[in-house]
Parts: sequence; structure tokens; C-alpha cells
Amino acid sequence: MNTIFSAKGIEKSYGAVKVLRGLSVEAERGDVIAIIGSSGSGKSTFLRCLNLLEMPDAGRIDFAGRTLDIAQFSRLLAREKNRQIYEHRKHIGMVFQGFNLWSAKTLLENITEAPIHVHKRSAKESIQQAEELLETVGLSRFKNAYPKQLSGGQQQRGAIARALAINPSLILFDEPTSALDPELVG
Ligand SMILES: Nc1ncnc2c1ncn2[C@@H]1O[C@H](COP(=O)(O)OP(=O)(O)OP(=O)(O)O)[C@@H](O)[C@H]1O
Ligand SMILES: [Mg+2]
Repeated sequence: MNTIFSAKGIEKSYGAVKVLRGLSVEAERGDVIAIIGSSGSGKSTFLRCLNLLEMPDAGRIDFAGRTLDIAQFSRLLAREKNRQIYEHRKHIGMVFQGFNLWSAKTLLENITEAPIHVHKRSAKESIQQAEELLETVGLSRFKNAYPKQLSGGQQQRGAIARALAINPSLILFDEPTSALDPELVG
């Protein structure tokens, strides 16, 4: 077994509402794992816990050679917490249910932001890769458009290109084809 990501016993409550009751998931390289559940059942919350956009109340995550035990993590100083969260997310792409493209940046800038500023790759190389990704998702002619000038499906495809741009080891897709036609889903 070559597990590249594992989360065990993830718990999360909002006030008195316990949304996640000890969920676990394990992924090997190349795995595609689908999570199915009714609206409001906690799918987005689970994905957001996996990349620490929401801090789980309990559980443990093993990824990229690091173990993040929530009980121990919660005792760290804020600065160390932030550092570990930053490192954790660096290799995880996320396509948000609401897309969340940066509204003040063009599509191209949305895609090159993390490669340049987080991964410290050259602007030239990042722009070239972004242009290839835009070609793949059929948005080349919108590279200088701002998110508000794009349709929902175009924003969603832009968000997919953005998630791919960091060459992530893991991508969390939150309903990534909700705004796409059947012809575009593939
Ligand atoms: N920040 C928050 N504060 C309080 N409650 C929240 C918060 N985020 C989510 N919840 C609640 O947690 C539950 C799970 O929400 P979540 O968004 O994870 O569901 P979902 O399975 O992704 O639903 P959908 O299919 O509609 O996207 C819901 O009852 C929701 O109201
Ligand atoms: Mg959701």
C-alpha cells in the first residue's frame, strides 16, 4: 500500500450541531474517491477539514510526510499553527463549491497566483502553464477577463484550472461539475 493521504476520526461540530462524527478516508496515488450525501450532510465541511480551512475538533491527518494530530496541534502557538497549515495546503488543490475566484484578479492572475507566490516558480513558466491549462478547459480567450465577466460554468472551469496549476498531490473537488453541461464534464 502506498497511501499518500489519510485522515482518521475527523470530528466537527458547529455549536450544538455535530456535523462530522469520526470520518476517515485514505487515498493511494491515482485514487479517485467520491463522497455522496444529501444536501447539508457535511460533504463540504469534510473537504474543508481535510485542507484545514475548517479546523476539525478531533482526528489526525497524515500527508506529505507530516502527521497532524488535532489534539496536539491545538496546543501549538498561533505562528507555528499557521506555518503548519500553510505547508499542509501547499500541495492540495481545491475547487470550491462556490468557485471563489479572486474577484479583483483576471482569470490568468487567479491561476498564476499560487505557482508564483507560494511555490516560487518563475512568472514566465507559471504563465505558460496557466495558458496551457486554460486551453485544456476551453477558456483561452477569457484569460484577461475578471470573474464577474464569466458565466458560472466558465468560473468553475477557471477554478479547476487554478487547482491544477500547483501540480497538487491531492485535489479536493467540491461538486466540481455542478455548473457544467454534460458535454463539458469530461
Ligand atoms: N460555518 C458554519 N457555521 C455553522 N454551521 C455550518 C457552517 N458550515 C456548515 N454548517 C452546517 O453544517 C452542515 C453541513 O454543511 P455542508 O456545507 O458541509 O453540507 P454539504 O453536504 O456540503 O451540503 P450541499 O450538498 O448542500 O453542498 C449544515 O447543516 C450546515 O448548516
Ligand atoms: Mg457542499
